[in-house]
Amino acid sequence: MWRMPFFCYAVGQHVDFRKGIFLMNVEEAIRTRRSIGKVKDEPVPRELVERIIEAAVWAPNHFHTEPWNFMVMTGEGRRNLGRAYAEIAGENKKEETAEEREERLRRAEQNAFRSPVVIAAVCKPSDAPRVVRAEELAAVHAAVQNLLLTAHANGLGAIWRTGDAAYHPATARALKLEPGDEVVGFIFVGYPDMEAPQRSRSPGSAKTVWLEG
Ligand SMILES: Cc1cc2nc3c(=O)[nH]c(=O)nc-3n(C[C@H](O)[C@H](O)[C@H](O)COP(=O)(O)O)c2cc1C
Repeated sequence: MWRMPFFCYAVGQHVDFRKGIFLMNVEEAIRTRRSIGKVKDEPVPRELVERIIEAAVWAPNHFHTEPWNFMVMTGEGRRNLGRAYAEIAGENKKEETAEEREERLRRAEQNAFRSPVVIAAVCKPSDAPRVVRAEELAAVHAAVQNLLLTAHANGLGAIWRTGDAAYHPATARALKLEPGDEVVGFIFVGYPDMEAPQRSRSPGSAKTVWLEG
């Protein structure tokens, strides 16, 4: 089946024949994107994954350091992450039988298999003298938002997850991260298998102070 949206010069818009509609504009994508935690066990075409990563790398970044790195995990490629989840869960001591513990760790491992594609977004901060580490992380956060919005505009569901695993040495080992690398999130991606949840936000005006002359 034709899945890939393409740019139609006749209408100056992206067209998605699968959905039969034009891709949404950026404001609509921002407002309608929701975290989609339940997705189908259906593969996502590689070109679509590449497309959302191409969008991610257009994020702003100070001193042009491009501090992002993406690890795309599919199929058994998710296993090492799952093992790290299980190892981390294993550190939680609970009152439980050996069987209960085994089941809990099995479920923790399965958490890496909640979507057909899991993308680890990793910050590799530059060590150039003027670079501020917080800004390197900020750039990767912006890249993740680009990725989420582009996934949404292309009919994918995605959720940015962190939890203990993002910051745990077991994950760093599992993903063979280098010293200084920092996981900013795992983006779970697939075709949605749930309605987008209703969410609300305080209006921007409630979070804004105008300083005027
Ligand atoms: C840095 C970061 C980490 C997050 N980690 C998790 C997570 O571990 N688990 C989860 O269910 N959602 C996680 N989320 C998603 C938020 O829960 C979600 O964005 C929030 O509920 C608002 O919903 P919305 O994205 O649909 O607007 C994370 C979001 C951010 C920005």
